[in-house]
Parts: sequence; C-alpha cells; structure tokens
Amino acid sequence: AAEQTFIMIKPDGVQRGLIGEVISRFEKKGFYLKAMKLQNVEKSFAEQHYADLSSKPFFGGLVEYIVSGPVVAMVWEGKSVVATGRKIIGATNPLASEPGTIRGDFAVDIGRNVIHGSDSVENARKEIALWFPEGLAEWSSSQH
Ligand code: CMP
Repeated sequence: AAEQTFIMIKPDGVQRGLIGEVISRFEKKGFYLKAMKLQNVEKSFAEQHYADLSSKPFFGGLVEYIVSGPVVAMVWEGKSVVATGRKIIGATNPLASEPGTIRGDFAVDIGRNVIHGSDSVENARKEIALWFPEGLAEWSSSQH
C-alpha cells in the first residue's frame, strides 16, 4: 500500500485560520487526503498521542495546549509522504524552520508550532490507528 502519514493542525493553527492553508499545501504537492476530522481531544488521549515525550519537562504544557481547543486530524497518502510531509511542515522549532515551510512561514514559538506530522512510517501507523480507529476513505485506483 502507498505510504501514509498522520498530520494534526494544532489548536493555534485552527484558531488562527490556517486549516485551508495547510490542506492546500499538502493537496497542491500531490498528496491524497484519506481522512479528516475537527475534534476536541481529552487529556488522556493527548497524553497517549504524545506518550513518547512523557518524561520531557514540557509534557504537561504540551498536553494542556493540545486540549485547549479543537484540532484537525488528517491522514495523507503518497510517495514518501512521511519525510516529505515533514519537509513541508519544517523544523520543530519555528525559529529554525526555513521560510517556505509551514512553521517557517507561520510560527515563532516551539510551544505553538501550528502542526504535527509523524516522524516515521512506524509512528504514522500507530498514530493513524489511534486517531482513526473507524478507518479511512477509499479512493479508486484510477484517481491515484
Ligand atoms: P510535534 O511535532 O507535535 O512533536 C512534539 C511536540 O512537542 C512538538 O511538535 C512541539 O510542539 C513540542 N515541543 C518540542 N520541544 C519543545 C520544547 N522545548 N518546549 C515546548 N514544546 C516543545
């Protein structure tokens, strides 16, 4: 199957009106949207999503931020979408991300960095299973 990644527009991105901008960049690149929902998440769910970071000093603040308003959860599919998606997003710290990337263009604060993207194919698989237990949309093969 084609590679898939999990992308989340965080509460600051939603609040600032960047949903369309993010979707547009992934669409125009040539990736396929496979699932999408706007939702508020529970603290326990945010803790599960960021479980790998539970020992970090910023973990509590990160979880509070993610539950502070609705997020947009998405699955995107296409060639090398995990690594290329992270290039579109830019470096985690917006002060290090290049202009032309989402974080480079729209953020200055590592704690308010607009968007999340899976960092490996394995983590993408886990994150997609966590966020979309109901499954993904079907595209016919002729549409790809
Ligand atoms: P994300 O790509 O979602 O992966 C983990 C998140 O933790 C990251 O984006 C940031 O939002 C957050 N993060 C990473 N490092 C820090 C930090 N030093 N201070 C606050 N938040 C951080």
